[in-house]
Amino acid sequence: MIKVNFSADIDKNKINSILEEIKNDKMGGWMELPKKYDMGEFVRIKEAAKKINEDSEYLVCIGIGGSYLGHRAIIEALRPKSETEIIYAGNSLSKRELEWALEKLGDHDFSINVISKSGTTIEPAIAFEVFKKKLIEKYGAEEASKRIYATTDAKQGALHDEAVQNNYTKFVVPDNIGGRYSVLTAVGLLPMAVAGVDVDKLLEGAAEAMETAVEPAINYAWMRYALDTKKYDTEIFASFEPSTMYFNEWLKQLFGESEGKDKRGILPDSVIYSTDLHSMGQYIQDGRRNLFETIIDFPTDDLNKKIVAAVRIAHAEGEIPVLNINVPSFDEKGFGELTYFFELACAVSAKLIGVNPFDQPGVEIYKKELRKLLDQSL
Ligand code: PA5
Repeated sequence: MIKVNFSADIDKNKINSILEEIKNDKMGGWMELPKKYDMGEFVRIKEAAKKINEDSEYLVCIGIGGSYLGHRAIIEALRPKSETEIIYAGNSLSKRELEWALEKLGDHDFSINVISKSGTTIEPAIAFEVFKKKLIEKYGAEEASKRIYATTDAKQGALHDEAVQNNYTKFVVPDNIGGRYSVLTAVGLLPMAVAGVDVDKLLEGAAEAMETAVEPAINYAWMRYALDTKKYDTEIFASFEPSTMYFNEWLKQLFGESEGKDKRGILPDSVIYSTDLHSMGQYIQDGRRNLFETIIDFPTDDLNKKIVAAVRIAHAEGEIPVLNINVPSFDEKGFGELTYFFELACAVSAKLIGVNPFDQPGVEIYKKELRKLLDQSL
């Protein structure tokens, strides 16, 4: 069970009405998801993962933002064992990255999981064209179609239409769940199952958190809100486990995209200790006093515990507010709990500062501008 080391002075009525609002929001589907999962889809995900493990040395996982970071975060953290290695693509327009991935694939057997809720995001759309071409060249159109797994909207969008036309195996991003809250849907579950993550245990952890993580998540959200009103406008997520670097990236996306709008929101940043004690450590200890630190406290060995203790003492001396989130286990169950805890805390936090946790109007602006530039160069 997730525990926090503080108890905020919460306005219970306000919180209850926020929780009600989130539950009734048209994008609030993630809130009940771990207990209301479509088990038919879950079985299909596991079957698809088994097939991919049998026929593919690589799975090219194409997606960006919420269609990418959540599953990468958990896969990198847990380092599970699998027959199939994941290659991530479509999260940049870098030709170098693309060429590197194509070279790594070489003549190995592979499949593609293309993930895009809208089906129109440019980076994954371009990467999909490139890897699909390679797949067709290697296997021919018919077999290639059997090796493409499309995770997208249930009813519409370019990717949906292509998947239907070509008979790709299709998984759904539910209408009522947005990108950065979608890691526990097929968006994250298929790549994680392929990579060897025990997805049953992950959902079990998340389902448990629906009961046990609500109170700590609310406390944490309220504490952030209280700190923000005292001009602590930067949050540093700190972990002492190097493999959680991508989990930090997911957190930055979750909070940054959910809260950073209408000229509001706490700026999320992250560190991995000890590594970053020798880079960001100086600033955190001694720079501007507008930051607070959220330690994600995983069970660890005795030596690493000494670093945790030393950092706590040093940061108390540096007058940094430190919030501690204690995670019960460094495994699928722990990450299931942690994922749900942060999703809930983030949605409540955004509501507390009065912004919509589920849209991303700023991201849409760059997408529109990029499309215009690409159209001009055609
Ligand atoms: O959290 C979000 O909604 C975004 O980060 C999206 O996931 C990201 O923009 C990718 O969108 P799509 O899945 O439509 O390609």
